[in-house]
Amino acid sequence: MMVILKRPDEIEKMRASNRIVAEILAALQEKTKPGITTIELDRYSEEMAKKKGAKPAFKGYRGYPFALCASVNAEVVHGMPSNRILKSGDIISLDFGVYYKGYYGDAAITVPIGDISEEAMKLLKITEQSLYDGIRQAEVGNRLGDISSVVQNGVEAAGFSVVRDFGGHGIGKRLHEEPHVPNYGIGGRGIELKSGMVLAIEPMVNTGTYKVNILDNGWTVVTEDGKLSAHFEHTVAITEQGPVILSLKN
Ligand code: MF3
Ligand code: CO
Repeated sequence: MMVILKRPDEIEKMRASNRIVAEILAALQEKTKPGITTIELDRYSEEMAKKKGAKPAFKGYRGYPFALCASVNAEVVHGMPSNRILKSGDIISLDFGVYYKGYYGDAAITVPIGDISEEAMKLLKITEQSLYDGIRQAEVGNRLGDISSVVQNGVEAAGFSVVRDFGGHGIGKRLHEEPHVPNYGIGGRGIELKSGMVLAIEPMVNTGTYKVNILDNGWTVVTEDGKLSAHFEHTVAITEQGPVILSLKN
């Protein structure tokens, strides 16, 4: 396991990349209303990145053809933007990353479209809560399993399930670095967390089974039972002063 530790000056650079991601996600959230298509959101995200002098991180990554991952309802992650028109009652995960001045930023939010069901509202709340529970464990001296287990426990206590086949990751000069950050696991297990580690923590939570399939496009991950899924992600630095969320607007 080769976990690359970042110096404070590198963490400041990563704050700049991640701030751009947070600003773009906030702007996308404003636009995400009934009637808009996901390809419009994709184009807008790419334009905004270019205006800020940043490169969309996902476009061309392992051949992924879009700037944005837009995952609607039963789509878990890596949803491909299309002419699909968003309608009231949908939920959509917007996952965006940039490369800026040598470092990557990566974050995601799940947004309600118009009026959504009680269950969908609870799903969004619990998933975001599980992200913040995980972030709180990103402390020097804790172990990776401390993050994973609080995410899993909070989600399962609410009656939902965590996706096993995908998770978070280290991030820095590359979009995906070690370690892999599972959203399930056992407290006290796994690598020890050290000052200078930067992790993208990204719980993916389903209302039904945790099992997923990949569509024929080779990318889009969907729930096996067709039930709803949500996804929130922050890039977080582990420091002597505690966890620092880098993917914030200010
Ligand atoms: N946040 C996702 C991840 O870290 C987005 C990757 S999409 C890809 O896996 F196209 F870049 F793979
Ligand atoms: Co990520």
